[in-house]
Amino acid sequence: METIKNYVETNKERFLEELFELIRIPSISAKAEAKDDMLKSAEYIKAALISAGADHAEVKETKGWPVVYGHKIIDESLPTVLVYGHYDVQPVEPLDLWDSPPFEPEVRDGKIYARGADDDKGQLYMHVKAFELMNRTGTLTCNVKFMIEGEEEIGSPSLKQFCKENKELLKADVILISDTTMIAQDTPSITVGLRGLSFMEVEVTGPNRDLHSGLFGGAVGNPANLLAKMIASLTDENNHIAIPGFYDDVQEVSDSERSEMAKAPFSEEAYKKALDINEVVGEAGFSSNERTGIRPSLDVNGIWSGYTGEGAKTVLPSKAYAKISMRLVPNQDSGKIDELFIKHFESIAPEGTKVKAKSLHGGQGYVTPIDFPAYRAASSAIEESFGKQPIPVRSGGSIPIVSDFEEVLGIKSILMGFGLDSDAIHSPNENYPLFNFYKGIETIPLFYKYFVEEMK
Ligand code: BES
Ligand code: MN
Ligand code: MN
Repeated sequence: METIKNYVETNKERFLEELFELIRIPSISAKAEAKDDMLKSAEYIKAALISAGADHAEVKETKGWPVVYGHKIIDESLPTVLVYGHYDVQPVEPLDLWDSPPFEPEVRDGKIYARGADDDKGQLYMHVKAFELMNRTGTLTCNVKFMIEGEEEIGSPSLKQFCKENKELLKADVILISDTTMIAQDTPSITVGLRGLSFMEVEVTGPNRDLHSGLFGGAVGNPANLLAKMIASLTDENNHIAIPGFYDDVQEVSDSERSEMAKAPFSEEAYKKALDINEVVGEAGFSSNERTGIRPSLDVNGIWSGYTGEGAKTVLPSKAYAKISMRLVPNQDSGKIDELFIKHFESIAPEGTKVKAKSLHGGQGYVTPIDFPAYRAASSAIEESFGKQPIPVRSGGSIPIVSDFEEVLGIKSILMGFGLDSDAIHSPNENYPLFNFYKGIETIPLFYKYFVEEMK
């Protein structure tokens, strides 16, 4: 531990400056115009892997944004850890809500502020620096592979195929991922569940053109009004999702497991205060943590229609749209939920409209066991560096590719994330505390150490 702490202490500033350089590249995977920046990020990570001690690294083409692959193989007979992360980030709009420009990282109050500071550049870079640390201090005792993709935030459309084509290359004993959160700096946790996702876009068409809302208002079905009603009908008064068949495959969690989960510290008062809401809202009969951890949900992520620019324009729109996410729990199939949603949504099309629904992307949920070597290794590592045993927690977020890893590669993942719920990922003013960044770099080498011991 002393060697690790010393190495981090001596190289702190350089680690941060290197991360800043990566963050300055605006690699927004959702935007086609980001092409050069996607390549630049991939090349930057490739070079970082080489200088950290990889004996091989390359930028591998896919149909979409490239994947960075690298490795250090010290002995084929030793265990292999495959590190997964993503160098792409979410769009930054609305820009005016940022206190500093999203791609000009700066430290305020001990936190790095920038898009990607946590999700996932900050977290993936901890792995590159921990790898460097182990190489420089002669403490690496297993093989390491890296697979860093550029399409996570758009649903990883190329990575499953990439895995199929590179099965041999990606062979490993475990996939190590830091792309999730822990409860708090003094309450470490390990994510043992991710929700699945069905992400839909719907379109309601009324009249064949935008109309004057005075000349026609009241006599023609308004797709914006009607879409609002349709969305409202998707959940009932208990916040149950009202799509027929939606809950058919939901895996109920036993009472004993629920009471085990309820032991994780959670203050509803602090939760409400942090979000400036006076009440939490969700499915009747479940706590906030259960609502995100073990129950599915349905939310509008974007909705638009008519005139939304400055000032007034009296118009009855021809079309209205929404993007709707459904977060799924293990055993619900995202393809099946897509179909149920489309069938139901089109079936409730109001008179005088045409309704279309399509799937944008999605994937299955994931649960990690807590009785396997990688969990025990992560738990020991965190206990040693944080001084407290981590709590297993089911997260509400999704990393759909994780279940594909298991399906295609036959490898389980361990979700050793160092982010916090307050890091504002996907929001303006995304941030990542320096404490978490450096603590992560200190904890990762311990994971390797314990993992190798577990595999003996
Ligand atoms: N890193 C997040 C997922 C996450 C964050 C899981 C915190 C658990 C805790 C990831 O980058 C993400 O944002 N995933 C998307 C899914 C994707 C298909 C767009 C999500 O959850 O919305
Ligand atoms: Mn992420
Ligand atoms: Mn994300």
